[in-house]
Amino acid sequence: MVCLIHGPNLNLLGFRDREVYGSKKLDEINDEIKKKAQDLGLEIEIFQSNSEGEIINLIQQAREKAKIIIINPGAYTHYSLAIRDALADVGLPVIEVHLSNIYSREDFRHFSCIAPVAWGQISGFGAHSYLLALEAAKAYLEGEVEI
Ligand code: DQA
Repeated sequence: MVCLIHGPNLNLLGFRDREVYGSKKLDEINDEIKKKAQDLGLEIEIFQSNSEGEIINLIQQAREKAKIIIINPGAYTHYSLAIRDALADVGLPVIEVHLSNIYSREDFRHFSCIAPVAWGQISGFGAHSYLLALEAAKAYLEGEVEI
């Protein structure tokens, strides 16, 4: 099972800063993610939380049931050592996802404390970033790429 976590403010996709994040709502993006997962033959559970503690609980729970984590930590990317520690401790590969290219934006977004504990990062392809992450997850689960 793939555990996919959307972090804070991503519930407002389609309403917030459309120039940066696009016009698709989170439900539409989740439908695309589910369809892609189905096409790839992947089981997936999708969560969204605005709360740091809840995201940490989701990561800890993933240990028992997931084989890989895909996470867009939103603004927590840039400063949450607690989410970083949870990901480092979970013992699963982690794919960090961003809709926007965080390196082409404000300076404070250039630093990710998640990246050093992630398998890889996909940033800048809009909602398609999640679909690319699923492709990478599939390749890992099929043993096509080593970590
Ligand atoms: C984001 C980038 C973050 O800097 C920002 O705080 C977000 C969304 C992205 O998907 O591009 O909330 O993670």
